[in-house]
Amino acid sequence: MFLFDDYECIRQSWSVRQMRLVILDSYDDVSLWAAKYVRRRILDFNPGPDRYFTLGLPTGSTPLGMYKKLIEFHNAGKLCFKYVKTFNMDEYVGLQRNHPESYHTFMWQNFFKHIDIQPENAHILDGNAPDTVKECDEFENKIKESGGIELFIGGIGPDGHIAFNEPGSSLVSRTRVKTLNQDTIQANARFFDGEISKVPTEALTVGVGTVMDAREVMILITGAHKSFALHKAIEEGINHMWTVSAFQQHPKTIFICDEDATLELRVKTVKYFNGLMHVHNKLVEDPPEK
Ligand code: GLP
Repeated sequence: MFLFDDYECIRQSWSVRQMRLVILDSYDDVSLWAAKYVRRRILDFNPGPDRYFTLGLPTGSTPLGMYKKLIEFHNAGKLCFKYVKTFNMDEYVGLQRNHPESYHTFMWQNFFKHIDIQPENAHILDGNAPDTVKECDEFENKIKESGGIELFIGGIGPDGHIAFNEPGSSLVSRTRVKTLNQDTIQANARFFDGEISKVPTEALTVGVGTVMDAREVMILITGAHKSFALHKAIEEGINHMWTVSAFQQHPKTIFICDEDATLELRVKTVKYFNGLMHVHNKLVEDPPEK
């Protein structure tokens, strides 16, 4: 039986500095587990008018399932976003805000319009700002003014990039303009009718350092095509050619992946983290009645 004291114990283990890897069977399981984790963190934080919970958010196909689950929780009255502020990781340069593939459109269509977030609390970089350097500096300032990010959620590219921190990006980088590399442009062409020439070549992106400053980081990795990146992320040294590997040094990082994404991991790594699942699963449970 799960007792209140056990729950307190698990809650305290959150403050233990460590990198966690949660391995689940499928993409759907990853989506549900991630959404439950986000819900639990927001509820435990107990946000209110003087105390907002600040979330960093990604785009891409990976987090879509998690957003759907969070919307379900909201619709079922189990999660409120009234006192949540969000900061998105990145945005293309030069796409109109209402372009179907802009990250503004993505976030409003797939998440924000379905929940009770106050529009002024949903921050997304403006890729059409006349002064992009100023836009990036102001974004960093807004994060600071909000008290920093409580939980930054990210996805990765098959080359191990986080946000648009392409291979070779500085691991202490801040929000800035980045030129996209060919792999990323090719990977994202699927959203632009498969036409590489339609994919923007620049983006505004938070830096690795910006995400590292969050009090907690959660990274979602699914699919066999990202298995080598997951191996580089957690089994080898920190390397600016695989920018997601920087999070090994973050005091509280949780990687959530499906079975397919573990294909390049060592058997002993998988066994070790699978053996911890009973502990990890407690992190998403509701507290028992006192
Ligand atoms: C883009 C985004 C990243 C995202 C990545 C993976 O490059 N800038 O933030 O993590 O795509 O996207 P997907 O989840 O669709 O594989």
